[in-house]
Parts: sequence; C-alpha cells; structure tokens
Amino acid sequence: MADKKAQLIIEGNAPVELPVLTGTVGPEVIDVRSLTATGRFTFDPGFMSTASCESKITYIDGDKGILLHRGYPIEQLAEKSDYLETCYLLLNGELPSKEEKAQFVSTIKNHTMVHEQLKTFFNGFRRDAHPMAIMCGVVGALSAFYHDSLDIKNPQHREVSAMRLVAKMPTIAAMTYKYSMGQPMMYPRNDLNYAENFLHMMFNTPCEIKPISPVLAKAMDKIFILHADHEQNASTSTVRLAGSSGANPFACIAAGIAALWGPAHGGANEAVLTMLDEIGSVENIDKYVAKAKDKDDPFKLMGFGHRVYKNFDPRAKVMKQTCDEVLAELGINDPQLELAMKLEEIARNDPYFKERNLYPNVDFYSGIILKAIGIPTSMFTVIFALARTVGWISHWKEMLSGPYKIGRPRQLYTGYEQRDLPDDRG
Ligand code: CMC
Repeated sequence: MADKKAQLIIEGNAPVELPVLTGTVGPEVIDVRSLTATGRFTFDPGFMSTASCESKITYIDGDKGILLHRGYPIEQLAEKSDYLETCYLLLNGELPSKEEKAQFVSTIKNHTMVHEQLKTFFNGFRRDAHPMAIMCGVVGALSAFYHDSLDIKNPQHREVSAMRLVAKMPTIAAMTYKYSMGQPMMYPRNDLNYAENFLHMMFNTPCEIKPISPVLAKAMDKIFILHADHEQNASTSTVRLAGSSGANPFACIAAGIAALWGPAHGGANEAVLTMLDEIGSVENIDKYVAKAKDKDDPFKLMGFGHRVYKNFDPRAKVMKQTCDEVLAELGINDPQLELAMKLEEIARNDPYFKERNLYPNVDFYSGIILKAIGIPTSMFTVIFALARTVGWISHWKEMLSGPYKIGRPRQLYTGYEQRDLPDDRG
C-alpha cells in the first residue's frame, strides 16, 4: 500500500517523487522502481537497505528478536506444532485442519522413495566427497527424473514438485551419509514420522533395526522447524533469483543448496564444531576471542552474529533449551560442550561482542545437538538444507503464483572506459 511519498533531491535536478510502501508490520519501504526513468540506479551491495520482493510468508524483527511464520511465532511452532504441520503452514498460508494434516502427511509419505536409478548417481562421487557437494549434484539431478512435474506455469506441477522435494530430501540426505560410510542405503519407512524416519535411514542398517529414541526424534523435529524458513536470506534469494529465469524447481533448490553451503550462512553449524576443535581446550579461549576481535586476523567466532538479529536470535533460545534436554537425556559429558558453553559465556560478557550485538545464533547450538545425536559434522549443513527446502520451495511457489520479473541487478561500473586494442602488440 502506498500512502506517502518520499522526495529524492539530486543536486541541480527536479525532485523525484517515490512512493513509500507499508507492509502489515515492519519498516516502510521506498519504492525506487521508477528511478530507472531518471537514468539512475540505487547502490546497495549486500542488500543492506533493499527489499528484493514482497512476501507473505515470514516476518523477522531483528531488533526485537521476533520470527513469525505466516504470523505465528517460531517459539509457539517449536512447542506446539511439528515439522510437517509447519511445512503445510509455510506452503499454504494457514494451519491445516485435522483432515488436511492427515492428507498432507499421507501425500508426503507417498513420495519418500527416490527413483531406483538415482542411486547410481552416488557411485560417481568419491567416498570422501563432502555431503553438500553430493547434495548439490543429486538434488539438481532430480529434474532429470521427474519430468512430469516440471511445467512451472502449471500450479499442480508446482505443488507436486514441492511435495516431492519435502518428501525426498531426508531420503537423499541419508543416502549421502550412507554412501560416505560405505553402508547400504536404507529405504524410508512410512510407519514412522518425518524425523523418526530420517534417523532410521541415517542410523539403522539392514542387519540391525534399532528403535528410534523419541527424545532424539523430537529434538530432530525441532531442528527442522527452527530451520524451515528465514525470509530473504542468501539461499532463499538465490532460489528466487534462479526461479525468476524460469528454471525448474529442482535446479532452483540445487542453487539454494549451493548458496547455503558457505560458512557465513548454513555452513556455520559445521564451522562451529571445526572452530571448537581448533580452540581445543578452555585455556585457549582467551587467545581465540582476541583473534576474533583483531581486525587484521580473518578469524571470526563462528555461530555468533547475524545480519538481521541485532538483539538475540529467537531460534537460538529454543535451540539452547533443546540442547539442554538432549544432553541431559543422553547423559553426555563432552569436554567440547563445556568448551562451547565457556566460550558463549565469555563472548556474551565481552564489550566487543556486546557493543556489536553479536549473540550466539541458531547454528551455535544446533551443531552441538547434532553432534550429541551422533550426526557427523560434515552432515550438519545437509540437515539445514533438508529443513530449509520447504522455505525455499514456499518462496519459489509464492513468486511464481503472482506477477514477477526476472531478477537482474545493475551495477556501479568502476572499470576502464572504452579503449582500443593496440594495432601492434609485438
Ligand atoms: N566474530 C567476530 N566479529 C564479528 C563476528 C564474529 N562472528 N560477526 C561480526 N563481527 C564483527 C565484524 O567484524 C564487524 O566489526 P566492525 O564493525 O568493527 O567492522 C561487526 O561485527 C559487524 O559485522 P558484519 O560482518 O558487518 O555483519 P554482517 O551482518 O555483514 O554479517 C554474519 C553477519 C552472520 C555473516 C557475521 O556475523 C558472521 O560471519 N558470523 C559468523 C558466521 C555465522 O555464525 N553465520 C551463521 C548465521 S545464522 C544462520 C543463517 O541464518 O544462515
């Protein structure tokens, strides 16, 4: 809705009037679309001040530490909902009725298996390949297997692709792990819930089917809920950008997985554990905190800070509580955990971190929980990708169901002006 105007005055020119848009909540947004007619662009690397789209899915107030999915606070979803219900909410805009939920769960279960031939893809990868490298390749390859849902202009095709992705991601993630272990891949079990089935495919073998711990399955489900969506972050924006060119959904999600992999984004949960390994023991914490504060040292405390949350990360609060529950249940007394808790305490009280509002983020705790569950570090970002797939596909669907343009940012060019190749170059 535009009810105000902003005026942009560029010296020596008539003022340019720009509409000011208001959302349901959140800051006003200056609509600069008409600026191009004046022959000028805005400059905002890193999108620090730029809304790239309009969306109804997720709202974040970084100063107040608020995260809402379709209006519902993340804390309430983590406590009272489950992952598949949260998926339904993200995809459809409303919580499901009992019948709708049952139907949704049953549809997801119908799609949990992958094409048998997809298994052969794995053999092309080295056994020591990073699981995220395999995920980028295999998820992208789904477009070669599911031709019947690739018409992006057909809402039914978009729906089927969304279901397939949500249903198959745990299977593919677990296949990736089994491949790295040299163990047989496990078929999904539709008598289990989403999180239980994932743990089954990860940790059971055809020789030994152990019951899945309800505490660990609940923790896994919470990790999935807490990572399900996070508005226009780097990977979601990548999915939207790829989708804006008309690329198929599986290719778009593969692009999202690639963007998520970086340590400044989803790769942070893996980087936290690598950092704890590097720090080694409590005695070394001061040295590493000093490194993190030193501007000449590229070292950063992984799992601290967030582009949007400048007060606290509401997901981290829930995650910390789940972390305490899991560790208590498993009776784990891990020196690395003690190290993590000490690091958290020191960083929380250090003026450098306080002044810059650097708080532990969701990835600081999720890594610790995943480690306690027995998931290897290299799989952490895969689990983030699995959970975030529903967010990515919800944004992709939202974009495609309304009017959209191909994403095509402009630039501030600072290279050479036109010049000629010399005739004689020796
Ligand atoms: N350790 C030490 N200093 C930091 C850290 C850190 N983790 N994060 C930010 N800073 C400093 C930074 O050097 C800068 O200092 P100064 O103002 O003196 O130049 C100041 O804090 C502001 O940081 P920024 O880099 O301008 O902030 P940003 O919004 O561009 O970056 C971030 C956000 C998440 C990329 C960054 O905080 C970071 O690299 N954190 C570690 C990686 C991490 O945990 N990422 C997971 C994010 S949560 C999962 C997700 O949603 O993807």
